[in-house]
Amino acid sequence: MATENNHIALMFNDIAPTYDKLNHILSLNVDKSWRRKAVHRVKKAVSGVEKPLLLDVACGTADSTIALAKINDNVRVNGVDISEGMLKIGEEKVGKLGLNDRIIFSVSSAENIDFQDDIYDAALVAFGVRNFSDRETGLKEILRVLKPNGTLIVLELSEPQNIIIRWFYNLYFKHILPFIGKCVSGNKEAYRYLQKTVEKFPMPKEFIAMLESCGYSEIKHKALTFGLCRIYQAKKV
Ligand SMILES: C[S@@+](CC[C@H](N)C(=O)[O-])C[C@H]1O[C@@H](n2cnc3c(N)ncnc32)[C@H](O)[C@@H]1O
Repeated sequence: MATENNHIALMFNDIAPTYDKLNHILSLNVDKSWRRKAVHRVKKAVSGVEKPLLLDVACGTADSTIALAKINDNVRVNGVDISEGMLKIGEEKVGKLGLNDRIIFSVSSAENIDFQDDIYDAALVAFGVRNFSDRETGLKEILRVLKPNGTLIVLELSEPQNIIIRWFYNLYFKHILPFIGKCVSGNKEAYRYLQKTVEKFPMPKEFIAMLESCGYSEIKHKALTFGLCRIYQAKKV
């Protein structure tokens, strides 16, 4: 697990400088609205909490972390990621926005979160869970650090089910995306990896069963943009 995480971290370190730009180009900016929807769910989940403490797992360059910190002025966020390169870009963005006093980053894997039990009101994993080298261990770790009644929101890319949309999706993901990825980041493999991880990611029924087996309850799921992305919501009871 550690070796695989090292390999993944090195790959994200390599693409970190172009990650944000490519994300927005490759998704035609739709990734922003997907993140907004996920953050809105976190906001609703913690609406009754006076000073919410939030965890952003696999926070990368901190777009999701910053959006969480902006829920309201009382929110505090811990962002964790295995890639120092991604976190460095995130830290720069947070510094420019003057949010240093409300966001703390640490290099930590989802499979071994360096925080005590039962402290977070909610956790978000945006486009990160499919990268976990041991998904069940990561999900159980997040459950451990959530407070009872805490909420997990997972946002993840997925293969669309509709045959026609899937045809265009395959053309785009298997051919166009690695090409653009290589041109902009210089790393074609990283964008092939993206396609492979989406292909391997479980379909909703299976992922919901995994969340249940990891100990989560009240699991909900919603497909976004023809099923190109999905939001999962689950609780620790
Ligand atoms: C596609 S990026 C998503 C970043 C960010 N959440 C966003 O919305 O743009 C995936 C991130 O997951 C991180 N990652 C991969 N495996 C991880 C693990 N096991 N634990 C923590 N972070 C991980 C990578 O370093 C990378 O920054």
